[in-house]
Amino acid sequence: MKTYRYAERMSLVKPSAIRELLKLGADPDVISFGGGYPDPDLFPLEKLSLVFEQVIKEQGKSALQYTISEGLSELRLKLIERMKRVGVTCGLENLFLLQGSQQGLDLVAKMFLNKGDIVITENPTFLGALVAFNPYEPQYATVSMDEEGMDMDKLETVLKANPNAKFIYTVPTFHNPTGITMSLCRRKRLVELANAYDVIILEDDPYREIRYEGEQLPSIKSFDTEGRVIHLGSFSKILCPGLRLGWVVAEKELAEKLCLLKMAADTQNSTLNMYAVNRFMELYDIDEHITHIRKIYKDKKDLMLETLRVALPQSVKYTNPEGGLFTWLTFPEGVDTTRLMKERVLPEAKVAYVPGSTFFPVKEEVNHCRFNFSYMSKENIVRGVTAFGRILKEYC
Ligand SMILES: Cc1ncc(COP(=O)(O)O)c(C=O)c1O
Repeated sequence: MKTYRYAERMSLVKPSAIRELLKLGADPDVISFGGGYPDPDLFPLEKLSLVFEQVIKEQGKSALQYTISEGLSELRLKLIERMKRVGVTCGLENLFLLQGSQQGLDLVAKMFLNKGDIVITENPTFLGALVAFNPYEPQYATVSMDEEGMDMDKLETVLKANPNAKFIYTVPTFHNPTGITMSLCRRKRLVELANAYDVIILEDDPYREIRYEGEQLPSIKSFDTEGRVIHLGSFSKILCPGLRLGWVVAEKELAEKLCLLKMAADTQNSTLNMYAVNRFMELYDIDEHITHIRKIYKDKKDLMLETLRVALPQSVKYTNPEGGLFTWLTFPEGVDTTRLMKERVLPEAKVAYVPGSTFFPVKEEVNHCRFNFSYMSKENIVRGVTAFGRILKEYC
């Protein structure tokens, strides 16, 4: 008989019931608003094939070789330029490439967390971050949000109650799952509080460029005077997630330590992908591409919100995000969106979403759910939301 003697941390590594439920959403007959996938019709396939071909032909010997763990300097220099637009001045010693921003979540947790350490998050928060942090066995303290993002007075109370908290994790722009954006004055206050209570901020900002309306806001990192904000960015939503390319910006000492952890984890990102994205940015205007993405997603968001308005009972509220990929629905107390999906919406309407309970690290709230509007076609947005609304009108 064999016994797998797993490490204790594995007790927190398990598939959630909701993940299992979402697998049912993979049925081709189901209209799924569950995932956070970009629209694959927006991947610049022809341009990318040309770029990959050129890179292999002209630079193949370097592009298929190992390279430094920090990643291709030319691409990092381009990102350093782009970071200036959001108010961040940094150099090659501060910015290195990651396998998507998801890797940054893992590395930051690995760098800071001992078992039982406190991580402060928005409530609700990005599930993928909890999945990344959990193996390091933290405890969570949560801060509620309103339409301006994390409530700073509540954050101060949480900081007072948890003086040794290791870091505050935030998705400040078009938050996943709620779509809410943290206001300018709260961004500044967040850094002031972090300075006062000597805590790190982990700013996870993969959606910032997918803005449909309103003014672009400076990143939280731009207000960092003490080297305590770690910023994560990503090509997943502005180019394609399959390239697995993201980046981190951090104070030199932190960047060096994080990079040592990256080296241990995977040595480096794909050299070929880094060369290809660098060449893509030399040959084409990525901002033009992003403008196109924004237009398509704005149309889809407007269509989803208009269909929700018509199809849903008035008792159901939903956010109107200025960007990003999600709207967050809130049902009257007593509605359990997991049960609703399992018992009615999936079997009868053939529609899937992500039940909200999964996004709450401490105390689950069951009367919310997240709808994605980037992935489905416009036709399916109307069909799916309308079918969902029919069930709800009976149910609520
Ligand atoms: C808030 C947030 N952070 C990080 C990620 C991970 O993205 P990446 O593809 O860059 O690893 C996602 C993906 O959906 C996300 O929503």
